[in-house]
Amino acid sequence: RKLENQSMIEAHKLAANFYSHLLLNTVEGEKALQYLEQRGFSREHIENYGIGWSLDDREVLSQLLQRKKFDMKEMEQAGLCIMKNDGTGYFDRFRGRVMFPLHDDNGNVVAFSGRILSDSKEEAKYLNSPETPIFEKGRLLYNFHHARLNVRKTGKVILFEGFMDTISAERAGIMNSVAVMGTSLSDTHLTKLKRIANQLIICCDGDNAGWEAARRFAILAQQKGLDAQIALLPGKMDPDEYITTYGGEAFAEKVIGNPHSYMSFTMAYYKRSKNLSHENDVLQYIHEVMEELAPKVSPIERDLLLRQLNTETGVSAEALREQLTKTVGKIA
Ligand code: UTP
Ligand code: MN
Ligand code: MN
Ligand code: MN
Ligand code: MN
Repeated sequence: RKLENQSMIEAHKLAANFYSHLLLNTVEGEKALQYLEQRGFSREHIENYGIGWSLDDREVLSQLLQRKKFDMKEMEQAGLCIMKNDGTGYFDRFRGRVMFPLHDDNGNVVAFSGRILSDSKEEAKYLNSPETPIFEKGRLLYNFHHARLNVRKTGKVILFEGFMDTISAERAGIMNSVAVMGTSLSDTHLTKLKRIANQLIICCDGDNAGWEAARRFAILAQQKGLDAQIALLPGKMDPDEYITTYGGEAFAEKVIGNPHSYMSFTMAYYKRSKNLSHENDVLQYIHEVMEELAPKVSPIERDLLLRQLNTETGVSAEALREQLTKTVGKIA
C-alpha cells in the first residue's frame, strides 16, 4: 500500500473508534444501540464488527480530525468530510447513522456504510463512502479479511447481497460468508474468492431483485470456473429476516445446508412467475427451461430435467425428450 494513503487509513481508524465510542458509551448513542438490540445484535457482534453511531451533529468528526492535525482536503478525498459551500470549513459526511466499517483485505477500515434508524422515502437507507484511493466498491467484499481463514479451511464461501446478512449469519454459526456492497459482483470479487475457495453458495434476498442478482451471480461464478450453488429463501425474505424469524439453526440446515444446483435454481427461477395449471404458462415454462439448460446439462442432469418437467407439467416424457432433442439441435 502506498505510503501517501496512510493518513487516510489512520483517519478511518480514528473515526471508527470515535463512532464506536459514541454508540457504546454515550447517551446520544442509546437509540442506535436499542435499534441494534431490536435487530438481534449482541454486544459481541457490535464489537466484533466495529459498529458505531454518527451523531446528528454536523461537524463533530471534522472537528476531531482537525484537532488531530489531519489535512482536511485529504479527509474530503477520503470521503469523511465535505467542504462547506462558503469554503469556511468542513462538515461530516455521515450524520445520524449506524456506522458499519468496511475493511480491506488487511483488516484496515477504509470506508463506511451508514444506515438510517427508520426507513424513509426521502433518504437512502444506506449511505456509503464514495470511491477513494483506499476504497473501491468493485474490489471490496464485506467481511473478507475476517472470513478468509474459515473459507480456506472449508473450501466453501457463502455470498450475500447485504452485509447485514453476513453479520446475522454469524448467529447461525456461519463464519465463512462475505457480502458484495450493493448488487454488482465484479470479476475482481470472483478472482479473490476463487483464490481461496472452490465452492460458492449464493444466497440473495427473496425479492425480485434478489432472484435476478442470484441468477447473475451464478452465471458469472460458473464462467469463472467456480462450483456455484444457490440457496433459496421462502417468500420475499432476506437471510437476516429468515434467521430472525426461524433461527440460525434452521438457516444453517434448511437454507445453506440445502442449496440448489444451477439447473434446479433455473427451473425455480422460471417457474416463479407461472401458474402451471395454465396451458400457456406450461408451454412457456418448458420453452424457457429448455432453451437455457439444453446446452449446459450432462446426460444425467438431462434425465433428471425431463423427469422433473414431466412431474411438474404432466407433459409426457416422450414429448419432452423429443422437444429437448430439437432444442439441442437448434442451438448446436
Ligand atoms: P438491502 O436493501 O437488501 O439491505 O440491500 P439489507 O441488508 O436487507 O438491509 P436492512 O436489513 O434493511 O438493514 C443490500 C445491499 O445494498 C446496498 C447495501 O450494501 C446493502 O447491504 N444498499 C442498499 C445501498 O448501498 N444503499 C441503499 O440505500 C440500500
Ligand atoms: Mn435486497
Ligand atoms: Mn436485504
Ligand atoms: Mn435485511
Ligand atoms: Mn397464466
